[in-house]
Amino acid sequence: MSLSVVILAAGKGTRMFSEQPKVLHKLAEQPMLQYVINIANELKPKNINVIVGYKAKEVEQTLSHEKVNWILQKKQLGTGDAVKYAVPNLIGQQTLILYGDVPLIEINDLKKLIKKGEKGLSILTFNKLNPKGYGRIIRALNDVEAIVEEKDCNDTQQRITEINTGIMVADTKHLINWLSLISNKNSQKEYYLTDIVALAKKDKIRINTLEANSEITISGVNSKIELAKMERAIQLKKTNTLMEQGATLLDPSRTDIRGQLDCDRDVVIDVGCIFEGKVKIGKNVTIGAYSILKDCEILDDVIIKPYSHLDNAKVGKKNIIGPYARLRPGTETNDNVHIGNFVEIKNSKIGTGTKINHLSYVGDSIVGKNVNVGAGTITCNYDGVKKHQTIIEDNVFIGSNSQLVAPVKIGAGSTIGAGSTITKNTPANELSLSRAKQTSIPGWEKPKKN
Ligand code: UD1
Ligand code: CA
Repeated sequence: MSLSVVILAAGKGTRMFSEQPKVLHKLAEQPMLQYVINIANELKPKNINVIVGYKAKEVEQTLSHEKVNWILQKKQLGTGDAVKYAVPNLIGQQTLILYGDVPLIEINDLKKLIKKGEKGLSILTFNKLNPKGYGRIIRALNDVEAIVEEKDCNDTQQRITEINTGIMVADTKHLINWLSLISNKNSQKEYYLTDIVALAKKDKIRINTLEANSEITISGVNSKIELAKMERAIQLKKTNTLMEQGATLLDPSRTDIRGQLDCDRDVVIDVGCIFEGKVKIGKNVTIGAYSILKDCEILDDVIIKPYSHLDNAKVGKKNIIGPYARLRPGTETNDNVHIGNFVEIKNSKIGTGTKINHLSYVGDSIVGKNVNVGAGTITCNYDGVKKHQTIIEDNVFIGSNSQLVAPVKIGAGSTIGAGSTITKNTPANELSLSRAKQTSIPGWEKPKKN
């Protein structure tokens, strides 16, 4: 059977205490609504209709890459009113109602619900020990008769623990008819979508229920506390997948994956690491505590020591990086490179076996093989207007606290004396240095205090 999807996302989310529309709040760096649209797409529906209201333009713009119909609900008069706006677009034989603030809904539950809803109506339910705030499923014997909103419940109905998750599937023709019949004569003066259940009963249409798999899958996000809980649930899903594929996480509850992380065999990740964008990690790699990796590729047998920050970097085999290293965009290292503490590399290629171990800045550079860059070396790549390149050829030794003023080329096999400011290209295999001669003044006396 063909399907249309309606996603309810018009609400403001008052309890978030935020200017941002609720469905744009992020979970693992993605807007909440994105998750719901992704799930809807997996069902391959005829179309997806998102009902927007509060800051509709902002919601639309943020997710403008999605092929969905954006439908403006002028005033938030209730869930039934919201679905009415989608009626002209309901081209599937069945219509699935999803909520923009229920991001962890399970695809398998939805598939079962759709199957159960054929030619009739099916409702995703849950048994909640504390059903406060939810619509209750009213049954006579076994058959569903109606859904009553909590504010309209009598005492007996309030004690019912079988609740409406809000997610349902209806035969489209019937749905359109029922929507035209619902009224707002209730305690909240809203058009309740849930009133279609009693109308289905009246029409003797089959009403099925399906109990959701777990509570988190039907949970909505209404506050920052619920947002944080949902974030943890999403993180746990991601870390479980990683561990199932063989990664060792020293503490999955202290790992954050905000994009896509792929790990080959025998990867060990210590606590506090954050992965953003696309990160690919090879075999036998260790990521030290509190490291942040964004859009990186790390090849086999690499050790990244704690507190390292890598952004758009490619790290070659058998590198040792950190602790406290910063690899900025455009950094590419070959095999066996060592980058040590307080070293910043940007837009540079570093050759096999090269070591830059302490307190250096290397920017816009090409560094050859087996180069040793001494502590405190700086490539002065910026003249205040333009960036310039530094080339350091193979087997160079750069003494500590040297400045290489770009554009400049350090010839193969040459040595730079410590403390030099190099402004001209240096010849291969020679010692170049530029520093004032050391002198000592005999008989010099320290100034004395009176
Ligand atoms: C709704 C259900 C209730 C169910 C609960 C589950 C109705 C009448 N009640 O109640 O049975 O137990 O969800 O969470 O359907 N929205 C719009 N336009 C509107 C009103 C709401 O787009 O005019 C959207 C909201 O942004 C939200 C969703 O619909 O994402 C649910 O609305 P909400 O007001 O939270 O419904 P509840 O009162 O919680
Ligand atoms: Ca709600």
